[in-house]
Amino acid sequence: MPVLEKHRVLEKNATLLLIASLVVVTVGGIVEIAPLFYLENTIEKVEGMRPYTPLELEGRNIYIREGCYLCHSQMIRPFRDEVERYGHYSLAAESMYDHPFQWGSKRTGPDLARVGDRYSNAWHVQHLEDPRSVVPESVMPSYAFLKDKDVSVKGFSTHLVANARVGVPYTDDMIANAEADMRAQADPDADTSGLEARYPKAKVGDFDGNPQRVTEMDALVAYLQMLGTLVDFSTYDEAKSTR
Ligand code: HEC
Repeated sequence: MPVLEKHRVLEKNATLLLIASLVVVTVGGIVEIAPLFYLENTIEKVEGMRPYTPLELEGRNIYIREGCYLCHSQMIRPFRDEVERYGHYSLAAESMYDHPFQWGSKRTGPDLARVGDRYSNAWHVQHLEDPRSVVPESVMPSYAFLKDKDVSVKGFSTHLVANARVGVPYTDDMIANAEADMRAQADPDADTSGLEARYPKAKVGDFDGNPQRVTEMDALVAYLQMLGTLVDFSTYDEAKSTR
């Protein structure tokens, strides 16, 4: 019987066709999914990515607590309109230390994946305190209370430990120095050599304009100013990363 004749048997019997289709789909599925279990990592490494500093990590915690992701995405898609507005499309590696990731699903406000370095610290503080004072038509809520809330620096290393458990490469040195690094990053007069050695490109500053305290405003602004600035796109080789 020629091949087409054999196929006729399948096509004339609905149950047989269903079973055969299931077999084919299963084989295809296994071929696609099984190799993923044997790969160390499906995210390719990109130079510049590092775990977040303790202050940035606390800022990220606040970002999640306040639900900023409900209005803001952190994922620039590779479309011309997005790239022209926000900058280089997001790389998978740029959210490799996010547990959970902050890609978001809604943009009531703009994407924040590359908001770092776009505004001054003072602009962020004013915008978070009273969004309408800088963008009159803004519908963003005010977060002025962050300026009055101190960060619990003491014991913060437990957050690094928790992230290390799910795979973020925080070293013992980073965990041991978490409190000192957190204070140093929010104090422009501090000795930050240790911080900068552990976390290259960490931005030091008195983010909230109040040098006496490490507030949640300090942490959130430090986090925002870091977003999208770790990978240097002037030297990033696209051809090398696409296989
Ligand atoms: C109800 C929706 C909403 C929530 C929640 C919200 N935002 Fe916004 N955000 C907006 C809108 C709308 C804009 C654009 C107008 C403006 O700049 O205020 C914006 C703008 C911004 C900008 C300026 C971005 C740019 O490129 O100009 C930043 C930074 C920002 N938001 C941070 C935050 C942070 C941090 C939080 C959480 C503490 C937050 N937003 C929560 C709606 C929101």
